[in-house]
Amino acid sequence: MAFPQEFIHELKARCNIEDVISQYVQLKRAGSNLTGCCPFHSEKTPSFTVFRNNENFYCFGCGAGGDVITFVMKMENVDYVTAIEHLAARAGLTVPEDGNAMRARVNKERYFEMNKLAARFFYDSLIAPENKDALSYITGRGLTPAIIKRFGIGYADTSWDSLTGYLMSKGFEKEEIKNGFLAGVSQKSGRLFDYFRNRIMFPIFDLSGNVIAFGGRIIGDGKPKYLNSSDTPVFKKSRNLYALNHAKNNTDSSLILCEGYMDVVALQQAGFVNAVATLGTALTSEQTRIISRYANTVYLCYDSDEAGQRASKRAIDMLGDVGVKVKVVTVEGAKDPDEYIKKYGKASFEKLLKGSDGHIEYAIKNISSKYNLDIPEQKLAYLDECCQMLSGVYSDIEKEIFVQRISAESGIAAEIIRNEIKKRQIKTHRRAVKDAVRDDINKSIGYGDRINADSAKNLSTVKKEENLLGILMIRPEFINSPSLKELLSEEIFQCEFSKKVWREICRNADALQDGIETFGDAFTADEMGRIVQMTVRRNELKNNSEAVAAELARSLRKEADRKKSDDGSDDSFFKRIEELKKTKK
Ligand code: UTP
Ligand code: MN
Repeated sequence: MAFPQEFIHELKARCNIEDVISQYVQLKRAGSNLTGCCPFHSEKTPSFTVFRNNENFYCFGCGAGGDVITFVMKMENVDYVTAIEHLAARAGLTVPEDGNAMRARVNKERYFEMNKLAARFFYDSLIAPENKDALSYITGRGLTPAIIKRFGIGYADTSWDSLTGYLMSKGFEKEEIKNGFLAGVSQKSGRLFDYFRNRIMFPIFDLSGNVIAFGGRIIGDGKPKYLNSSDTPVFKKSRNLYALNHAKNNTDSSLILCEGYMDVVALQQAGFVNAVATLGTALTSEQTRIISRYANTVYLCYDSDEAGQRASKRAIDMLGDVGVKVKVVTVEGAKDPDEYIKKYGKASFEKLLKGSDGHIEYAIKNISSKYNLDIPEQKLAYLDECCQMLSGVYSDIEKEIFVQRISAESGIAAEIIRNEIKKRQIKTHRRAVKDAVRDDINKSIGYGDRINADSAKNLSTVKKEENLLGILMIRPEFINSPSLKELLSEEIFQCEFSKKVWREICRNADALQDGIETFGDAFTADEMGRIVQMTVRRNELKNNSEAVAAELARSLRKEADRKKSDDGSDDSFFKRIEELKKTKK
């Protein structure tokens, strides 16, 4: 464990889970617990619960759960050590530096250092006389020396080993360079080769200003057009946004979301300092959550082609889910914001932002562009799509504004349109309830279980294992009780995840009396959710839990023994026959 137990205790005593969560979630009392709408998935009725007695939280909707530390990890998208630091700062405590924690830090620091050196190396190459073609490519696209410097844009030259050679001369190991996605290893010779060659390099920064990854655009034609760092120990592309480090301090609670690096840089150069982009992937729900922390409004400024428009529709829904208002900017007469601003200038883009459509407006325009309202069938199709779309709008006032407009455009009475929308809302609601039920059923039979991949194999065994572990976590002293001691051991658990939980329980048996925080960083935040779920299920079991645990353990042991003797050899086959004969007699 990375931190002394006393420190974690003190930290949790000072950072009451209720207070910490209240900063993010509106909690209401429900009996002795508190409930609210889960911040980790979108829901309208609260299934997120804070248990005051053991200071855990658990969402019955999405399965997120854990203690106050897990909560901060998930909410702030940070690792265990950073979550502790965050809470310590809040409580005014100093974080003790022990060996393990230091190692975790040093590790990351080395990647940051390596990336920083690489970024400098690329920048120096870009301005080196021998690479003047690269520089003229990028200045030819309208970027000034000042913006190039501000974004640390650089050039990876055509050599196969200039960067790796440089990094190795600075003391970085092969393994580090490879894991940092700066080089690959040749299968034949085992030597490193630079991943990025003949590309304009865009470093990606985290919010603290560390270089965490790169995107590289090929000069001229060639594939892939952009090469992006894969996920590394310091980079998750689904959790970062390009240029948010610049934009976050400059936002008036709005962000401009684009598709490409070049769009962002061009917009920022023109003074739109709140421009950001995703990193070579479609928008993720993690990104929308981050966005919602910095912006109330997002100006969605995707490419004008069909793919861009399709991506817009998806982004509108996703941003709506986290409560962000969306304005859709259509860059008419250009393929993307970068081209637009070059063609028409800054003032025109400003006008475009001002005149951008709300998301409903945008949807209706899209629908009406497809139909000719003078033709009855097309008018019908138009009304059908509009009603369907409006049935998804929550606010009655907003809906009413558009009902009136559609009514005027189509000549159909507003009352009829209103009724039609209502009908569809009822239908959608029914379907949602049905889907939720089916989801629950699927979950309970182990489909799509990411935490415990073994669970689909034998559901009833998994349930027994989880019940037993849940009891042991609440009453760890049972591990040594006479009725259980002989029955318990690692072999009785079939699932890898259960085995791991069992090992951690053994390792922490004494400290577990104080709660599951003693597991430290042995589990990920998602795994902690599952662990809390195991204990939540068992909380109601008070008096006879030792007997229940013994029964579960006995049954699991029997299954394990049967599995063992059933190893497919002739021996075990004959043994089984013998046994069967015996039982028959
Ligand atoms: P675009 O193809 O629209 O490129 O991809 P762009 O940003 O306009 O770039 P220029 O103007 O041609 O230089 C948009 C974004 O999609 C990702 C990149 O993040 C890019 O900025 N992308 C695109 C990739 O990751 N890989 C690719 O091969 C292409
Ligand atoms: Mn472009």
